[in-house]
Amino acid sequence: MKKALITGVAGQDGSYLAKLLLDKGYEVYGGLRRNSSRTLWRLDELGIADRVQPVALELLEYSNIRSLIAEIRPDEIYNLAAQSFVKLSFDQPVYTTQVDAVSVAYMLEVIREVVPEAKFYQASTSEMYGKVRETPQSEMTPFHPRSPYAVAKAYAHFLTQNYREAYGLFACGGILFNHESPLRGLEFVTRKITANLAEIRAGREEPLSLGNMDAQRDWGFAGDYVEGMWRMLQADEAGDYVLATGQTHSVRAFVEAAARALDYEIAWEGEGVDEIGRDAKSGQVLVNVSEAYYRPAEVDKLIGDPSLAKAKLGWEAKTGLDELVGMMAKADYDRLSRGLILQ
Ligand code: NAP
Ligand code: GDD
Repeated sequence: MKKALITGVAGQDGSYLAKLLLDKGYEVYGGLRRNSSRTLWRLDELGIADRVQPVALELLEYSNIRSLIAEIRPDEIYNLAAQSFVKLSFDQPVYTTQVDAVSVAYMLEVIREVVPEAKFYQASTSEMYGKVRETPQSEMTPFHPRSPYAVAKAYAHFLTQNYREAYGLFACGGILFNHESPLRGLEFVTRKITANLAEIRAGREEPLSLGNMDAQRDWGFAGDYVEGMWRMLQADEAGDYVLATGQTHSVRAFVEAAARALDYEIAWEGEGVDEIGRDAKSGQVLVNVSEAYYRPAEVDKLIGDPSLAKAKLGWEAKTGLDELVGMMAKADYDRLSRGLILQ
């Protein structure tokens, strides 16, 4: 039985990946940081909370990483834990650098010294392309990061490449474009949209408040993307791969699709911070804009070229945007119908 260690197992990707690996027969160790209000709701929703072996893992503690990896001696390590919210990284740049960059140096050093035969997956990101140099973006596109988060992730990505080249580690950088699901955190725009519109559909009067609705993202389904992570570590050689759908849509288009899934039709009026979206039938204001959600530097448009992953890993995104939005909106509405508080 293969052993896998997943850092950040309580997050969106960690939960889906844990399920995938358990279904494949792996022994799964899930890294959790101590947190007084800790909740494993995602693992619970997937029905796997009691099948993952929980291990205390704080990425800022070198000794914690070292002793844990020495004890488990995992065959595969998926480094998914991170301060993953781009907007927060502008307010907490040093912390974000420590968690998203420095900890990856700890992790790679421990692997080099203790388990050099282990395979390593680093959660890199399309945010590294930032102010994009070409469209679509591939593994060869240069980076131009636009946030402390993206800068930290670029460091971690290059360090992963460096340990592969310098020490021969089987270390892969998965450059993943945005991927979403009913288990997405509420701070990210897609889930914020489906959760808020579902609450409004259930009777809430306060509208959904958003920032820049012109931003465009290549949104896929997280359940598809964790399969790509696993495939990277099963390949003959380690490498870096883009996982994306190859399609892009604006935040505004996502709002419209989520509204349709909840049986609303949005009619837009005004521009910029004065823009509002009404329910075309009742006139109720469903959406407004707040400057509070704008970022000091924005990534305007991302669209990935996943052709290398298709050719070398046989991976491709299976879920289209409408299916994804429908799945998320329905999940939030169903949770509310069952009297649950959205988390
Ligand atoms: P997520 O839901 O925010 O999960 C991140 C996890 O990291 C959480 O479980 C969190 O623990 C844990 N964590 C944060 N700081 C930690 C620390 N100091 N020590 C130990 N654990 C810590 O993120 P996700 O969407 O699943 O993304 C997974 C990874 O892929 C992240 O590295 C993200 O940056 C990257 N990525 C995501 C996307 C995407 O679209 N989702 C795209 C590209 C790359 P708590 O549960 O205690 O908060
Ligand atoms: N979060 C949020 N909230 N974003 C908003 C809002 C809002 O109210 N209004 C507009 N947006 C815009 C943001 O400005 C951004 O352009 C876009 O919606 C997407 O924002 P997020 O959903 O927060 O995701 P992200 O693209 O910044 O980052 C996510 O994807 C990256 C991969 O490209 C995160 O999952 C990162 O961890 C990941 O690396």
